Amino acid sequence: METQNQNQNQNQNEKQKQNSKKRKQVFPYGNYKSYYGYRIGQDVDEDPRLKVLRKEWFEGKECLDIGCNNGIITIQIAQKFCCQSILGVDIDSDRVQDAYWNLRKTVRLTSTGNKPVKASKLQDKDHADDSGINIDTKEISKEHSFSDQIDLSNVVSFKRENFVQGRHPPGKHYDTILCLSVSKWIHLNWGDDGLITLFAEAWKLLRPGGIFVLEPQPWKSYESNRNVSETTAANYRNITIRPEQFQEILLDKIGFRTVKDITSGLAESKTGFNRPILVFGK
Ligand SMILES: C[S@@+](CC[C@H](N)C(=O)[O-])C[C@H]1O[C@@H](n2cnc3c(N)ncnc32)[C@H](O)[C@@H]1O
Repeated sequence: METQNQNQNQNQNEKQKQNSKKRKQVFPYGNYKSYYGYRIGQDVDEDPRLKVLRKEWFEGKECLDIGCNNGIITIQIAQKFCCQSILGVDIDSDRVQDAYWNLRKTVRLTSTGNKPVKASKLQDKDHADDSGINIDTKEISKEHSFSDQIDLSNVVSFKRENFVQGRHPPGKHYDTILCLSVSKWIHLNWGDDGLITLFAEAWKLLRPGGIFVLEPQPWKSYESNRNVSETTAANYRNITIRPEQFQEILLDKIGFRTVKDITSGLAESKTGFNRPILVFGK
């Protein structure tokens, strides 16, 4: 009887420890485990950002997704727009693991029949958002019949990489580079220099005529995350560049030739998807 009570107490302690660990989890790079739970509601069919992206930026193109998190949007872009290839990179190896898990599951679901694949099926207990909120990809699946289903495992790949410190293979170039909701995290963790490195590297990695799709977070959102670490707190105090200046910097200093704000299509969108999305042409 005593041993049974001891075991029960031990189990309870273990659970309490796990719960408080969960509560204390910090994501200094925006490397949230439940990112899509924060941004997408149950009533939303697909990530609204996909509605404003154009097929011609991706179809048959070599693409890079900087800060891909759990890879859901990377996979959705590959499916919806038929990329030749898309590489998602993320600083957090756990998110890269999640992304491969999501990719394997998508491949399995799409290859077992001509059925729409919902992203909700991409989540199991261990991989579901805390909120239990999922993205529905039925729009995506409508775009392809089974016969023209692309082999996603040959198209999509993921890699752990700190984009601002990584060495990019010489000679490797992309047609399209995405940087969605990542600039704030790079800016807070590596300051103004890190931000400029992000922009300059993206420019270098693009082919002439290539495009850079940037969804920057507004300055006021930096404030809520500035204390995620000592580094971010110190950088926050020293940052001189503001997101309103990104466009000018990318055009005048980095060398992009054109810019287009594609945000109007998101005007009606749910909170969390009302940030500007700017498309720069090299
Ligand atoms: C807020 S999430 C955005 C996810 C996705 N791009 C989207 O918009 O749906 C930011 C992601 O950027 C990643 N990240 C932050 N700094 C990075 C860096 N220096 N290199 C690569 N990934 C980075 C984080 O780990 C996180 O998964």
